Amino acid sequence: MSSGDVKILAVGDVVGERAVHDLSFILSAVKKKYSPDLVVVNGENAAGGRGLTTPLAREIFSAGADVITTGNHIWDRERDAAELLGSAANVLRPANYPDGDPGVGHTVVDVCGRRILVLNISGVVYMSKETAGGDDMPSHALSGLYETAERVLSHMRGRYDAAVVDIHAEATGEKLCFARWLDGGGFGVAAVWGTHTHIPTSDACVLPNGTGYVTDLGMTGPRDGVLGIRAENILAFSKDKKHVKFEVADGKTVLDAVLFTLDGDLKCVEVKRVRGAAPDPA
Ligand SMILES: [Fe+2]
Repeated sequence: MSSGDVKILAVGDVVGERAVHDLSFILSAVKKKYSPDLVVVNGENAAGGRGLTTPLAREIFSAGADVITTGNHIWDRERDAAELLGSAANVLRPANYPDGDPGVGHTVVDVCGRRILVLNISGVVYMSKETAGGDDMPSHALSGLYETAERVLSHMRGRYDAAVVDIHAEATGEKLCFARWLDGGGFGVAAVWGTHTHIPTSDACVLPNGTGYVTDLGMTGPRDGVLGIRAENILAFSKDKKHVKFEVADGKTVLDAVLFTLDGDLKCVEVKRVRGAAPDPA
């Protein structure tokens, strides 16, 4: 790799407070090994598995994140979301939520003298319903994925050198299709990664026009459990159709991430899976 390279580390959804506390230890080891220039962490599950608070966001930043992205669960704590998104420029929520919602879906950060736009956006397949809210909650209705991305990237054209995108989505095909569209779209998108499913996929690659891609980063959370939640809770819900409280699982914290290396022209030239782990719990 040449000295003009830019390395971007995208870290999978942090699940629960203990994973937030472990992040500093794990990220410092990962940073030492890979020396990323920009670290983007998805933090939407940090607060007990659902949502994000200002103190937890601060802790994620002090652990080494430069930008925090989120997703549908950011609205599980409306008051925290309003406070956090209204005050922290580098904490994003998906851009395709209504303009009147707190916060924004993109930011531009200086990385090695290059202007990198980070865009957070939500898929719509299997996602709209779970963000519809109850009678007493705002709807947070999602608008179109493609239209929103085109609107943001066109509006920001000339104000960034490359863009990277966290697509927070359930459907694998939607993520890849969106990434292929961005790769061929002339928007200067250097990397697209998926979040939300908490399952790391093995399809990390560089798309034909130089966009790095992976369908899902995975998660940063307890290894034992189901997607970071106690297995017995998920079983009660899924198998026995019981409504139970979902609690974050116990066990060692593992980190799933992907490292994108961009060349001097800000085209992606390498996509590499990265794993980290906290020490075994006492
Ligand atoms: Fe999510």
